[in-house]
Parts: sequence; C-alpha cells; structure tokens
Amino acid sequence: MSAFSFRRYAAADAEAIGRLYFDSVRALGVRAYTEAQVAAWAPAPVAAEQVQARAGDGRLTLVAEDGAGQVAAFGDLEADGHVDMLYARPDAAGTGVAGELLDRLIAAAREAGADRLYVEASELARPLFARKGFAVVRRRDFEVRGVAIHNYAMEMRLEPDPA
Ligand SMILES: CC(C)(COP(=O)(O)OP(=O)(O)OC[C@H]1O[C@@H](n2cnc3c(N)ncnc32)[C@H](O)[C@@H]1OP(=O)(O)O)[C@@H](O)C(=O)NCCC(=O)NCCS
Repeated sequence: MSAFSFRRYAAADAEAIGRLYFDSVRALGVRAYTEAQVAAWAPAPVAAEQVQARAGDGRLTLVAEDGAGQVAAFGDLEADGHVDMLYARPDAAGTGVAGELLDRLIAAAREAGADRLYVEASELARPLFARKGFAVVRRRDFEVRGVAIHNYAMEMRLEPDPA
C-alpha cells in the first residue's frame, strides 16, 4: 500500500505548492543543474495566487499527501495531454511518490480519451518519464531569465482502450 494518498488540488494547497516548487528545484535540481540554473528556474517560492490561477485554468492538478497530511508532491495535466509540472518535496523524492502521481495523470488522460501525452522533462524527471513509457523526441536548449538551461521534449502515445 502506498504511504501517500492522492487527491485533487484544493485552494488551501496553493501556498504549500508554491513553497514545494521552490524547495524541490533548489534542493533536487542541483543534482543535474548548476546553482545559477536552479536560481533562474526557481528564483523564489511561487505566490499562492499564481498557483491558484494556474490550477484553476481548466487543468487537472493532483496532490500527494503524506501521513501527516502535508503535500509531498504535485503534478498536473492540461487538456491537450501536456504534463506541465511534476514536483516532489525533497525529502519525499526517491520514494515512488512522483511515479504514483504520474500513473494517475496518465490514467486520467486515458479516461479523457487523449491519444498522446507530452512533457518537457528536466534531467531529474527524464528517467521517471522514460520508465512510464515516454520517449525522448529531442533535447531542448533554451534560456530562462537569461541563463542557458536544457530539458527534453518527451511524448507517449496512448492506445485506445479496447471497447
Ligand atoms: C522529477 C521528480 C518529481 C522525480 O522524482 P523521483 O524521486 O525520481 O520519483 P519517485 O518519487 O517516483 O521515485 C522514483 C525513485 O524512487 C525509487 N523508489 C523507492 N521506493 C519506490 C516505490 N515504492 N515505488 C517506486 N519507486 C520507488 C525508485 O527506484 C526510483 O529511483 P531511481 O530513479 O533511482 O530508479 C523529482 O526529481 C523532482 O521533484 N525534481 C525537481 C523538479 C523537477 O525536475 N521536476 C520535473 C520538471 S519536468
């Protein structure tokens, strides 16, 4: 049984998610990116209003809660099959929580009848997406806040469920 429970995002999660995003990028990001890159990627915790606005734009945002009821990871899925975000709290990374959350996003996409899922995966996220069946389409080199960084465009085709 999972140590985590999964549910839809609620407005009360906004602040914790804004903080988790920052902590995750700063603490985990440095395993594959430079200090300058992670500072440009996440300059500060994301404001609760911004988290709420994004989560309320029609996408599906899921939250993993640990046994203490704290947000341990979150991820989202847009209507066109785009996984925009998948972030684990640093102390929860490597426990399988992000993988379980991604399984749920994939299942939701299947249920919605999507034929393709796609993501721009960081170096940290790439192995997880690959394990779930995503293939690298190309490496993307770009700048964020004037700092050069890279990630990987990955995609997964979904077969329609046999009726
Ligand atoms: C990307 C990110 C969410 C991936 O998290 P993760 O820790 O690799 O994913 P999981 O929590 O599913 O853990 C998987 C790892 O836990 C291990 N694990 C331990 N117990 C497990 C279990 N019960 N079930 C599955 N995996 C388990 C797996 O072996 C795997 O380790 P490995 O990658 O060395 O093989 C995380 O690195 C992160 O938040 N990074 C910073 C932000 C980021 O890059 N986000 C992505 C932007 S696209």
